[in-house]
Amino acid sequence: MSYYHLPVLLNEVIAGLSPKRGESFIDCTIGGGGHAVAILQRTAPLGRLLGLDCDGQAIIAARENLTPFKERVTLINDSYLYLTDHALAHSFTEVAGILFDLGFSSPQLADPARGFSFQIKAPLDLRYNTAAGTPAWQMLTQWSVKELTEVLRDYGEVPQAGRLARAIINEQRLVPLTTTAELLAIVDRVQGKGRRSLPAATLVWQALRIAVNNELKQLQETLPQTLPLLAPGGRLAIISFHSGEDRVVKNWLRRESTDCLCPPSSPICRCGHRASLKLITQRPITPSAAEVKNNSRARSAKLRLAVKLPD
Ligand SMILES: C[S@@+](CC[C@H](N)C(=O)[O-])C[C@H]1O[C@@H](n2cnc3c(N)ncnc32)[C@H](O)[C@@H]1O
Repeated sequence: MSYYHLPVLLNEVIAGLSPKRGESFIDCTIGGGGHAVAILQRTAPLGRLLGLDCDGQAIIAARENLTPFKERVTLINDSYLYLTDHALAHSFTEVAGILFDLGFSSPQLADPARGFSFQIKAPLDLRYNTAAGTPAWQMLTQWSVKELTEVLRDYGEVPQAGRLARAIINEQRLVPLTTTAELLAIVDRVQGKGRRSLPAATLVWQALRIAVNNELKQLQETLPQTLPLLAPGGRLAIISFHSGEDRVVKNWLRRESTDCLCPPSSPICRCGHRASLKLITQRPITPSAAEVKNNSRARSAKLRLAVKLPD
């Protein structure tokens, strides 16, 4: 299968990570290796890169695209949730930078077998890793109305989440919903096509994808793993694509770039927390109008950058 994905905010990521000759990097979401190529070019001739992706097809694409860099590249088909284990197993410690480019890739969206796009008739799967976990259609058979309402509301901010959840679960009890087209028909019927800037289905698909892949929890559990792996002065670059994801990143970065976390009312520090990061920019970097014009997937991207402080 051909793999075409334009790396988002490429120049900004490279400026932020500032890769130099001989340095080692970790790309936690390697996809087809678009960002990784640019990093490896700048760390030649000996700089190493560890790339993770839970999608086996992305790893195949990255292996092909990164062939010129030979043994400088180590690719692992696994979730970044196991970042520490893989980094230690392959001696990626004291690295100069770690990148997360979260969410899905263009080939995943376009794959007629995966269900990532509501515009393509496909099985309602939505897993990044099709060899593990539970596809969306099966999760729909397991959720109660209350659970589905929470998923739609918390992960998609779907308007009238309760009404839609009830319609989905009621219909699902009569005939199992297994395809994107079947779910879309219910969403359109309950929500109408509307005049909102985003179709309701976009929010529904986002919510289901986050739930199926346990995205926010995995991110929350992985971010702290980056700190012991970064060398002092090492950089962290994180691109998020929706508000829930960006909130997790922003809150964690804020916490790790703050010395004392005691309530303001506390006269002395009792928590002993010390900042391990310094924010490179206070506000997220967003793509230029030219980038969005060329790559509509970039429109909601937010890049946050931080640098590891000396111990
Ligand atoms: C936006 S794409 C990355 C594209 C890549 N930066 C490039 O330029 O080609 C995001 C990738 O993250 C992967 N992914 C999502 N969740 C993951 C997780 N928990 N662990 C590892 N990879 C994950 C997806 O499978 C997808 O390939």
